[in-house]
Amino acid sequence: MKKFTKDNINILKQIMLSRRDIRGNKFIKKRIDNDILDEILSAANCAPSVGFSQPWKFVIVKNKEKRDEIYQEFVKENEKAKKIFKNKKIYSKLKLEGIKESYLNLAVFYEKPKKEILGQTSQKKMGEYSVVCAIQNLWLMARAYNIGLGWVSILNPKKVKKILGIKKEYKLVGYLTLGYVDEFLDKPELETIGWEKKKSLKDIKII
Ligand SMILES: Cc1cc2nc3c(=O)[nH]c(=O)nc-3n(C[C@H](O)[C@H](O)[C@H](O)COP(=O)(O)O)c2cc1C
Repeated sequence: MKKFTKDNINILKQIMLSRRDIRGNKFIKKRIDNDILDEILSAANCAPSVGFSQPWKFVIVKNKEKRDEIYQEFVKENEKAKKIFKNKKIYSKLKLEGIKESYLNLAVFYEKPKKEILGQTSQKKMGEYSVVCAIQNLWLMARAYNIGLGWVSILNPKKVKKILGIKKEYKLVGYLTLGYVDEFLDKPELETIGWEKKKSLKDIKII
């Protein structure tokens, strides 16, 4: 059995604490080696999954035209989103994606099962939650390689699927942007600007 040292734990903690969501104002023009990309995707591949179903499917999007099309979809959805929030001025100033500036985009899908999945009999969303576990794994591994990742959720999943030519058996879980960055901020940007406060451990309920 592998036992970890305090130093190992500290490194894991540092990676977790310094992981950030990266938007287009932080990405730099630098290639990601294929070996490193494989390592990052392997991290996703070893995530836990309900019934060991591993229901994730990754689509790497490098094509400029496709990314432009996805970006236009973001612009449309973001115009709608702007109207929803009271503090429209602050919202309008936020950069909320890095679709064009990142080295690559990674669309992550949930593959709907063709058979019953152990553990997914009562709670049908467990497969999708498993895909989120895979995303978190790859987000942390990317950070360990000093590569930034941004999650772009202000997108219509149906439109994304159409642009990428993805079959109906797949459901979009995450549209991610990856690349090297000029800096990782110390704190979440939304915390710094006062949009949300950081949760304290005191919020945990003990029964
Ligand atoms: C499911 C999910 C969806 C997100 N969608 C977006 C998004 O559309 N645009 C964006 O700028 N950030 C998005 N984020 C990033 C969050 O805003 C960010 O994680 C949060 O503010 C905390 O900051 P940090 O990740 O830098 O620690 C998303 C994060 C998650 C987990």
